[in-house]
Amino acid sequence: MEIIYSIRKRAAGLKRRIVLPEGPEERTVQAADFLVGEGIADVILIGSRDSVKEQTARYGLNHMDRITVVDPRRLDPQDEERYVEMIVKLRGAKGVTSDVAVKQLRDPLYLGAVMVKAGDADGEVAGAINYTSDVLRPALQYIKTAPGISVVSGAFIMRIPDKSFGDGGTMVFADCAVSPDPTAEQLAEIAISTARTTRSIVGLEPRVAMLSFSTRGSAVHPSVDKVAEATRIARRLDPSLVIDGEMQADAAIVPEVSERKAPGNTVGGRANILVFPSLEVGNIAYKLVQRLAHAEAIGPVLQGMASPVNDLSRGCSVDDIINVVAITACQTDIK
Ligand code: ACO
Repeated sequence: MEIIYSIRKRAAGLKRRIVLPEGPEERTVQAADFLVGEGIADVILIGSRDSVKEQTARYGLNHMDRITVVDPRRLDPQDEERYVEMIVKLRGAKGVTSDVAVKQLRDPLYLGAVMVKAGDADGEVAGAINYTSDVLRPALQYIKTAPGISVVSGAFIMRIPDKSFGDGGTMVFADCAVSPDPTAEQLAEIAISTARTTRSIVGLEPRVAMLSFSTRGSAVHPSVDKVAEATRIARRLDPSLVIDGEMQADAAIVPEVSERKAPGNTVGGRANILVFPSLEVGNIAYKLVQRLAHAEAIGPVLQGMASPVNDLSRGCSVDDIINVVAITACQTDIK
């Protein structure tokens, strides 16, 4: 929990504007009220003003007068014109005409992404009532990736009760949320993005293990070659990064196994970042660790976007939304 409180505190110091496209949704309005009340972020809700007003009365919210509400059906004409122009400029070549642009702006998830791209919000959080893919697609189309990164990925900050793993029980897993089958280059970028998230959001110095079913060539298969190649590329992209692979999970997190299977490897069985070879593995692994080891899983923290966007679980609580908004605000400050 101390990680989350320090993230909330850092977010409050940044005072970022975060857009929540699922405006009148019950957990979202309550989170928004708390966020502005505590000064963690400035909030823009997308939705009809009447619905937001109804929810304010229903939940007895106190700070809603300090929240900006943007109704996609009643956009300020000047804003609408500016957004349509931007959309057509960015995606005209993909067949997006001004008529299509106007229709897209009626969709809160598109409007949220467009507002971030236009600089009218610093980041976006959605997913309490929408699928991951529907939240991500407009963001991938309009906000795009950060310079030097071509792939967006999702990391989980894992708080494991057994404090002998990672740094006092804290580890970061990726990609657990976005890219189904990354190439070696993309896997290398996922390692670099996760190292940035770990340094800037979690406050830990990264030690990255690139995971496989093979340690240093113990098995021969194209997917083993992919992870070994990704490790070489990541080293080239950031020569100062502590990273090793390909290696099996036990060699990554148990020092004695590490020494036996890969003597002298730079991670030494003390990895605090695990990069998985595919989304399938990453998604299954984080859920198993969460359930079997009773770990707390904070995320997914989406990384690699030019401006931060985060996706909520549909089962999220008010507190989860508050935390993800705070993480999003802090991500605006990643160097
Ligand atoms: N990184 C960067 N850009 C991307 C990525 C990526 N990972 N994936 C797609 N894009 C870009 C494409 O290049 C394309 O750009 P363009 O339109 O300018 O050419 C744009 O995004 C849209 O791409 P599509 O291929 O049309 O979109 P798609 O329908 O494939 O959706 C998505 C992409 C949403 C990321 C898809 O891969 C997906 O659904 N991933 C899995 C998400 C998921 O369900 N995760 C598990 C649940 S989350 C959890 O359990 C925590």
